Amino acid sequence: MHMKLIRHALLYLLLVISPFLYANEGMWLPQLLGQLNEKEMKSLGMKISAADIYNINKGSLKDAIVSFGGFCTAEVISEKGLILTNHHCGKDAIQNHSTVERNFLKDGFWAKNHGEELPNEGLTATFIVRIEDVTTGALKGVTASMDEKTRQSTIDGNIAQLQKDVKKEDWQSSFVRPFYNGNKYYLFVTEVFKDVRMVGAPPSAIGEFGVDTDNWVWPRHAGDFSLFRIYADKNNRPAAYSPQNVPYKPKRALSISLDGVQEGDFTMVFGFPGRTTEYLPASAVQLNAEVLNPVKIGLRDQALKILGDHMKADEGVKIQYAAKYASLANAWKKWQGESLGIAKSGALEKRRAYEAEFQKRVNANPALKAKYGTVLQELNDFYTRQQPLAIARDYTNEVTNAVEIFDINAWANALINAYTKEGEAGYNKMKAQVLADVPGFYKEFRPDIDEKVFVALMTTYFAKVPQEYIGDKAKELWKDRSTPENVARELYGKSDVLSEAGFRKIIEQKPDEAVEDLRKDKVLEFARAFTGGYNDKAAPQLNAVQNDINQLQRTYMQAQMEVFKDKRFYPDANSTLRVAYGQVKGYKARDAVQYGYYTYLDGVMEKYKPGDYEFDVPAKLVELYKKKDYGPYGVNGKMPVDFIANNHTTGGNSGSPVLDAYGNLIGLNFDRVWEGTMSDYNYDQRYSRNIMVDIRYVLFIVDKLGGAGHLVKEMKLVHPKKKV
Ligand code: ARG
Ligand code: GLU
Repeated sequence: MHMKLIRHALLYLLLVISPFLYANEGMWLPQLLGQLNEKEMKSLGMKISAADIYNINKGSLKDAIVSFGGFCTAEVISEKGLILTNHHCGKDAIQNHSTVERNFLKDGFWAKNHGEELPNEGLTATFIVRIEDVTTGALKGVTASMDEKTRQSTIDGNIAQLQKDVKKEDWQSSFVRPFYNGNKYYLFVTEVFKDVRMVGAPPSAIGEFGVDTDNWVWPRHAGDFSLFRIYADKNNRPAAYSPQNVPYKPKRALSISLDGVQEGDFTMVFGFPGRTTEYLPASAVQLNAEVLNPVKIGLRDQALKILGDHMKADEGVKIQYAAKYASLANAWKKWQGESLGIAKSGALEKRRAYEAEFQKRVNANPALKAKYGTVLQELNDFYTRQQPLAIARDYTNEVTNAVEIFDINAWANALINAYTKEGEAGYNKMKAQVLADVPGFYKEFRPDIDEKVFVALMTTYFAKVPQEYIGDKAKELWKDRSTPENVARELYGKSDVLSEAGFRKIIEQKPDEAVEDLRKDKVLEFARAFTGGYNDKAAPQLNAVQNDINQLQRTYMQAQMEVFKDKRFYPDANSTLRVAYGQVKGYKARDAVQYGYYTYLDGVMEKYKPGDYEFDVPAKLVELYKKKDYGPYGVNGKMPVDFIANNHTTGGNSGSPVLDAYGNLIGLNFDRVWEGTMSDYNYDQRYSRNIMVDIRYVLFIVDKLGGAGHLVKEMKLVHPKKKV
């Protein structure tokens, strides 16, 4: 063949298999980097070795990384257990310590000494001591003909045994997770620290600069960080909070580079990505992008509009609903970017071409054909069958998430169940648990607003959800009245559980009386009929289809790895420790729109709108900007703020350290760009970029704005680029 033709053919093949072939795509297992990634990482500019990143025999970079509360990542940046994460990861803690008089959200917080560092009940920091492949043990006794339920219970039994047998110290813990849709299992030995104290946070105006308008969007100008400290007992081991605890002495603390990065520089993100689904068939990606995302977005449009109007009209409501609104808006906006990105990047066409190539190779090989000949077709059939059920599920989840009476109903159900199963003792135990959450909930609950959300969302629900999945009792209660407003008034107007006092009065009675009143309450009666109907009519069918899909996805995953032998597969994210790597890089967003890779404080000032709820900044920042008082953190009279690179990241990677070629900390991951949010289904090197805050902006804010230079003194600052 002509050379050019060969190259063409190769290129074609590359494009066809491409969903998983781009360099920079992937969230890799740290213990397998030497085997799978080291060569490529070095070719991208990395100057350290895989063993410097993950090593179980001596300290390595992984010993500086923690899962922050199980929902974010943080990293150790001093020999005294200081850890860095995002502002939005620490927000709950910051909010909990805030009062109207001392509002740390608004004004920021800087502990002047260890004594001022604030404990946070329930907040943990988890180190990974070691990762072991336990696939053989986990799958012991599992056979191909087993139904999913038996398979799962066999595996659960094996895992329990593995955790019993694993060699570990008694202050350590362990867990086992499936990878590659259950084709592999890894065991993690961990150290879970339970005394994590708040050390510092910038004002929200810096930490969340741009709030919802800028969220998921580049160019970005947020200083999204906060500081905490891990405390240990006198033996440096995990312990519950105690005033006697001392700052933790880490096995490894990250060095911090003051030299910044340029386009093309190597970057690595080390953290705990939550969940991705990169190996779905095109049919499932399409179902999510074109059917389910619009369902969820539509309901949140309605809820956010109502909450937003009330928040704008009333300062008190704005504080009460800040967290709830932010959380609804975050996913709402992401789903929109995701669906757009899937269309824009041609993800479905690309995936279908990949499937055609897969099928061609399977059909050409009798052994493969016998095992995998029909797996794709079967998967597609099951996703088609799942569609109406998945629609019902997402409507139900969204409604019960946005309408807050369902939170009260969850307590009521827990109390009723505890009483039914374990009598008075069970009830009282559950009551203590519920009461711990009651004040926090009612402080941020406005029944009049919830009633409006109820009317709007239920109207959509009853109009759109297939009738066979709605409970008869719920339909009856809904249709009984002439208008949705009347239904809502009947319920909300006659309920006793909508105020803290009312709810307490009911549950503080004798358990049998309390349970009777909880059963009788109008709002709870409706909520029970609503969720009960879904649980009876849709959930069992959905679970059955889901079991089949799980099994087929497992087979399809295995098949892909067997069919495309020469290609590396990374497992979907599952909240375990991963490494993503790539290079600093701008991108072309659309015709004639090319984005640079760095933002500066000048950009903050361009967006600055005094008095605005999203784009105001503290006067002190303006002052520092005017004086160009950047200390050692600025470059050539400018203050770097955020930057982007093509590392493959997702939710849970928030707070992850971004490391340079030498493993020095250069930034803190906190978001992705609008055109690239579809990377949970389909990474595309043209658009997929993660957004990071430059570590020099973090230090500048701590030192110059916060006046907390003593914290910077704890850290080890380096100049790798000035080395000769
Ligand atoms: N979009 C980022 C994430 O998924 C940041 C969210 C917090 N920031 C915000 N402006 N709401 O978590
Ligand atoms: N902001 C996300 C988080 O909280 C990370 C951004 C993303 O999803 O990529 O984990």
